[in-house]
Amino acid sequence: MKLKSSRPFSELSEILYNPSAKDGPEIAYWVFSEISKGKWENMTVTSAGFYGDEFTKTYGHYHGTNVVENYLLVSGKGVLQLQKKIVENETVVENRVESVYMVQFEKPGEKISIPYEFGHSFSNVGNEPLVTFDDWRSGHTDHDYEIIQKQKGLCYYLLRDEHAGIKLVPNPNYTQHPKPIWITPNEFNELF
Ligand SMILES: [Fe+2]
Repeated sequence: MKLKSSRPFSELSEILYNPSAKDGPEIAYWVFSEISKGKWENMTVTSAGFYGDEFTKTYGHYHGTNVVENYLLVSGKGVLQLQKKIVENETVVENRVESVYMVQFEKPGEKISIPYEFGHSFSNVGNEPLVTFDDWRSGHTDHDYEIIQKQKGLCYYLLRDEHAGIKLVPNPNYTQHPKPIWITPNEFNELF
């Protein structure tokens, strides 16, 4: 196993609800690769905490390669935001998405298969590190992150809310905000 990358707070600011948030974990998350010779290739450890009122999260990306990605929850509690891209004239539309799912991971062992059309980012909504495994071996290009960077995040920001627990705030850089569908990993797997 080796440390593949780590994402410091300073690199995450540009895609936060509040880019000038001052407090929060110094390292948002670490990605380790070659974790096994079997199914799982990477492990992501996302710190618990907040940047301003926003839950710590991964940067988020699309995949340029038509391969399904599988995720497994090892420990912690997370919400995986999935947004389905719109392609027009063979070009990805940057400021609109077709649908948005908020997949709630609560029990270790829960798994999801993400079709390639879905951009994704994990928010750590618990009070301990969020640990996930995935089987992505197809690499990334800068382009995988470019749209998320331009749009300053995915379609919604996940903020803490005293009463509801999680408040979803629409990202104003998208011109439409499909109603988010809250769903379990199993329910999502049955749909796609
Ligand atoms: Fe991915």
